[in-house]
Amino acid sequence: MPPLIVDNVTKQFRQGQQTVQALNGVSMEVPAGMFLAVMGASGSGKSTLLHLMAALASPNSGRVLINDQDLSQLNDKELTLFRRRHIGLVFQAFNLIPTLSAEENIALPLMLEGKKPCEMKLKVDELLGRLGMTARRDHRPDALSGGEQQRVAIGRALVSDPTVILADEPTGNLDSSNSKAVCELLRDLSVIHNKTIVMVTHEPTVAAYATEVAVLKDGKLVERFGTEEAKNGQGLAVKYQELVGK
Ligand SMILES: Nc1ncnc2c1ncn2[C@@H]1O[C@H](COP(=O)(O)OP(=O)(O)OP(=O)(O)O)[C@@H](O)[C@H]1O
Ligand SMILES: [Mg+2]
Repeated sequence: MPPLIVDNVTKQFRQGQQTVQALNGVSMEVPAGMFLAVMGASGSGKSTLLHLMAALASPNSGRVLINDQDLSQLNDKELTLFRRRHIGLVFQAFNLIPTLSAEENIALPLMLEGKKPCEMKLKVDELLGRLGMTARRDHRPDALSGGEQQRVAIGRALVSDPTVILADEPTGNLDSSNSKAVCELLRDLSVIHNKTIVMVTHEPTVAAYATEVAVLKDGKLVERFGTEEAKNGQGLAVKYQELVGK
């Protein structure tokens, strides 16, 4: 079974008298080690889908399964534990703790699990190396560049070896060189380390680092294609425009 399955989910929001149909029957499977980019216009339902995958919200109908576990079957306490173990989240805003160093921010999920410093050290050292952050380990977030802060946030998402990494516009606050570094890191995590990653983005140059692209339009999945097929960032931009412009 693929580690992440979305099965015919719908999600509505009430806004005053109106109901917004944010997701309207979306299904997708994400196999182990795949780096999937989710694209779509503003309001197409990308963040809502990611929130359902992260069990930060529940669908009105349909199911999300991670590692064969139907998320709707878990109570709040079980969900908190499940999320900590199986889901690594990365947001556009890095959400680091300002008073903690890079190293401590990465170790935070392990500290919450009650791990001892000696148990954490090996894992955190390895991650700092993989993120290219060893020399910056003692820096607090305000003494790091945006790209470095996002790498720390990715480290924090990775430290508990989650089943899936879910990232909502992780490059949204970054300039192009930092954005490239973060994209390369995510690609390496899937290609070299077999991590399963779902990343929301509306930038074709960012999506081009993924293995496949899923395109949402008005809460529906309208297309899914391999980035090889789109050839490069420019080819992907053209294909994407054709799909959302329809
Ligand atoms: N909490 C909420 N209450 C009411 N409506 C919501 C809520 N969250 C999302 N929506 C609506 O659901 C739709 C999908 O929103 P979503 O945030 O998933 O879009 P998105 O594709 O992530 O857009 P963007 O690219 O702007 O981030 C939008 O019409 C939005 O206004
Ligand atoms: Mg969004």
